[in-house]
Amino acid sequence: MVRIILLPVILSLSLFTNAQQEINIIPKPVSLQVSEGNFVIDHNTSLKYDANRKDLKAAAMFFTSYINHISGISLPANIHKSKSIEFRIQKTGEIGDEGYLLKVTQDAITITANTKKGVVYAMQTIFQTLPAIRTNAVLQVPCMQVKDFPRFRWRGMHLDVSRHFFSPELVKEYIDLLAMYKMNTFHWHLTDDQGWRIEIKKYPKLTSVAAWRPDEGPSWVSRSEKNISGPPTYGGYYTQTQIKEIIRYAEERNITIVPEIEMPGHSAAAIAAYPFLSCSQQPQPAMTGGNYANITSVYCVGNDSVFTFLENVLTEVMELFPSKYIHIGGDEVDKTSWENCAKCQALKNKLGLKNEDELQSYFIKRIEKFIVSKHRKMIGWDEILEGGLAPEATVMSWRGESGGIAAAKMKHDVVMSPGKPLYFDHYQADPSTEPVAFGGFNTLKMVYDYDPVPKELENGYEQYILGAQANLWTENISTALHAEYMMLPRMLALAEVDWTPKEEKDWNNFNERLQYHFKRFGQSGVNYSPGNLTPEIKPFIQNGKLYATLFTEIYNGRIYYGTDGSDPSPSGKLYTNPIQIDSSVTLKAITVVNGRVLSKTVAQQSFVMDKATGKNVVYANPVSRNYSADGPNALTDGIRGTDSDISKYWHGFEGKDLIATIDLGKEETIHTISIGCLQHYRDWIMMPLWVKFEISDDGENFKEIKTVNNTVPSNVQSSIKDFTADFPEQKARYIRVTAKALVGLPKGHPGEGKPAWIFADEIMVY
Ligand code: ACM
Ligand code: ZN
Repeated sequence: MVRIILLPVILSLSLFTNAQQEINIIPKPVSLQVSEGNFVIDHNTSLKYDANRKDLKAAAMFFTSYINHISGISLPANIHKSKSIEFRIQKTGEIGDEGYLLKVTQDAITITANTKKGVVYAMQTIFQTLPAIRTNAVLQVPCMQVKDFPRFRWRGMHLDVSRHFFSPELVKEYIDLLAMYKMNTFHWHLTDDQGWRIEIKKYPKLTSVAAWRPDEGPSWVSRSEKNISGPPTYGGYYTQTQIKEIIRYAEERNITIVPEIEMPGHSAAAIAAYPFLSCSQQPQPAMTGGNYANITSVYCVGNDSVFTFLENVLTEVMELFPSKYIHIGGDEVDKTSWENCAKCQALKNKLGLKNEDELQSYFIKRIEKFIVSKHRKMIGWDEILEGGLAPEATVMSWRGESGGIAAAKMKHDVVMSPGKPLYFDHYQADPSTEPVAFGGFNTLKMVYDYDPVPKELENGYEQYILGAQANLWTENISTALHAEYMMLPRMLALAEVDWTPKEEKDWNNFNERLQYHFKRFGQSGVNYSPGNLTPEIKPFIQNGKLYATLFTEIYNGRIYYGTDGSDPSPSGKLYTNPIQIDSSVTLKAITVVNGRVLSKTVAQQSFVMDKATGKNVVYANPVSRNYSADGPNALTDGIRGTDSDISKYWHGFEGKDLIATIDLGKEETIHTISIGCLQHYRDWIMMPLWVKFEISDDGENFKEIKTVNNTVPSNVQSSIKDFTADFPEQKARYIRVTAKALVGLPKGHPGEGKPAWIFADEIMVY
């Protein structure tokens, strides 16, 4: 009796659970309710829509071609069949111009939206429930009701086609991936030092000369101006006809293409074609790689014919691209040629400008005026803030978020694209297991956890954040497979950052849905990274004690670890809770899924214990928010920094002294105090001039023990040095360490005269 009653209940519950499990939409919709049953797309199905609308007709074609591609079924339109899929454009509240309502029952699918965009996004949601490739499977769309609309207006992905060229077909495949995950902006980086990629009718040498360079093989970093001879055989460009077709293709998929024409820097290729564009006007070869001291990459700002050239180029660009935004670059301008140019200096004096930053600002403002006169909007990298922001400019914040925050506070629109975590050319897993990347460390989880609205903007400035974008620079990426690997699955995390309401985000749930997308990528031959297979080890300090947490982003991953020096194994210690570190040890860990060791390398972290480990550090000047390592106690977490990833374990101070006070908690007998510092010349990080060590009983009256002067020459590229004071035993409870900042970067440095950074990893007390 009991069994007979209970059984149907259990059955329907499990059916319901199964149905729910099949819904793995990324980005997660605003609201989605699944019910039992499916709509089957078959020969009894037709489309229904207002055929007088050209945009709906195009959307319908997009839908039918996908269905045809995966099943061979050709869906008729506006013919009576027993089941219909209807697209309705009608005024609907709440969902905005990109949102949609989707209702799937066994008899009908209805999509309602304010615009064609919403209709196409609803289609993408449907596609994600269907096979990714042609199979013999029945096309079943689970019955459901969805209300969906994006959190942000700018959901961007960038592709650098200058460092390596990607054919029009590959660009379309890239656009397909963006579209599938409801991204709406493709930032096409069309020009740079190493190649100009867009046909400009008025300047044919931009494609006959500037699009080509000698082929130097795979290693980007080893290339230099010493070996740029050789025939220019590497390159390519897009004809205007090809570009029009790509724009049409993108438009069909709700993607706006924002073209980027770099200026005034990153322009060596254009100058190679037209030497009159530079200050020296001397002929120069194309750049083939990244390290060139004697090739200029900057347009002359003091020469009006440069502006004529740029306006002519931009005119053709704006005739091609319907995008409201035109990206003009503006990043990393080396202004030394302006300093040495009579024309640039004459202009500076005539306009009464104080410095070259203001010359750059003049350049950008003049270009903005031109772009605005054509009823478009200018966007540029955050360097366009230097010397004064152009009146209507939108800022793309890449050097962290600070440029974006400053611009938003000035009521300018901002796209957040901070290097950490949104540079997808950076490593996404243990670098020793990965193809060469542009440094950094941006895991899938870091991307997922990113919020485009920083705390500083939460009160009234949120509206200026248009959204977030990830950038794919291609110095080290020359194939489509590699580009896919760097982009996937991180773009799926970004899609959810940009689309899904903040309160609906859930890492574990995302990770579960992601597994379904991995299967689809596998079926359709799209390359992707499995994620960081090596566990991450992170320290934290609580109540004066040091702990290590272990984390894996791998779905269903378990972590096994050991501290006795031997390699861990799946039969060893399973990680469940933070591990207290109470002596100098090396912690080792592996990721295991279903008994199988997945990590290719053993994660390792050494901890050094001393009397300061785990103690609180109080700074007189605040640590930079961009270089705050893993929290406030990096200097006493027992972890030494390395020079390979400077964003890890180092605390950075910009142009200010590091003044750190540590309370040891009780009076201790001590004889040595030491602080580790970093020099990274090209990143503006220099050794302190000197380090002063002081001690105190009460935390107020300090006594100097010793001051240690720096001995690392200022031209050393990379160095780690411990500044150490050894002294006869003393009793002390408080330690104060002052590292004196270098106020002017040395002569010949790109930032000559500007404040240097101080980086420190650990204070040790014995
Ligand atoms: C940039 O990465 N230089 C914008
Ligand atoms: Zn000049």
